[in-house]
Amino acid sequence: MNPPTTASPPTAAPTAPADAPLLVVFGAGGHGRVAADAALACGRWRAVLACDRREDLWGGELLPGVTVLSPAALRDLPQPWELHVAIGDNLSRRREALALRAGEAARATLASVAHPMAAVAATARIAPGCLLAAHCVVGPAAVLGEGSVVNHTAVVDHDCRLDAWSHVAPGARLGGGVRVGEAALVGSGSTVLRGLRLGAGCVLGAGAVLLEDLPDDARWAGVPARPTRDAAA
Ligand SMILES: CC(C)(COP(=O)(O)OP(=O)(O)OC[C@H]1O[C@@H](n2cnc3c(N)ncnc32)[C@H](O)[C@@H]1OP(=O)(O)O)[C@@H](O)C(=O)NCCC(=O)NCCS
Repeated sequence: MNPPTTASPPTAAPTAPADAPLLVVFGAGGHGRVAADAALACGRWRAVLACDRREDLWGGELLPGVTVLSPAALRDLPQPWELHVAIGDNLSRRREALALRAGEAARATLASVAHPMAAVAATARIAPGCLLAAHCVVGPAAVLGEGSVVNHTAVVDHDCRLDAWSHVAPGARLGGGVRVGEAALVGSGSTVLRGLRLGAGCVLGAGAVLLEDLPDDARWAGVPARPTRDAAA
């Protein structure tokens, strides 16, 4: 038998009430697609729209049924609507969130999006604007700062703290009590031993194993993680 040409979810997403807000996912790239997919699966919003500054994307679809708007079109959206900024690069995500809230999205609430298949402890605290992708785990008493991302299958264990606009990439694992500084990136498939601190703006490379604290703006990779040659120069 031929494989099916289109995939369908195993269960239908719940339907939002007619007076539920709209959601605008800002960023019509791959990360935006992950966020829009998670938002559709939630069934928490009446409709999901996308928005991007790239003119060539306007009027197209990010996912089936998710139309890409221009930023100017946000001013005409019916209230209420919520905004989720979905840009993978941490500094761009922070910059756009600040710019939109000072401009086109001044009346919108910043929304977190958690895929229904994200496992989030009841005692975790999630600030506005976060993305929790499918199959991630956020343990008890973990704290996620504004606009932070826990991507597919990443584990943020008990008592971890992610500062604002940080990103734990797919498959990364943080032991208990790890602190990730503002706008830091924990690379795909990396492991951070419990209790360590990663400074603001630092990058831990894909697949690294971190055994000691990382200073601000450091760029480390490898097993065990060490400064990359560029960063050390
Ligand atoms: C570690 C990283 C930040 C280095 O980026 P960079 O500073 O641009 O470094 P370069 O690509 O110039 O590589 C510098 C050196 O580090 C090595 N290197 C790069 N990435 C590495 C990694 N993940 N593990 C081990 N070594 C790595 C390169 O081979 C190179 O070695 P050399 O100096 O012996 O030639 C980057 O490769 C990385 O892993 N980023 C994380 C990506 C990620 O997980 N994104 C999440 C997407 S959702």
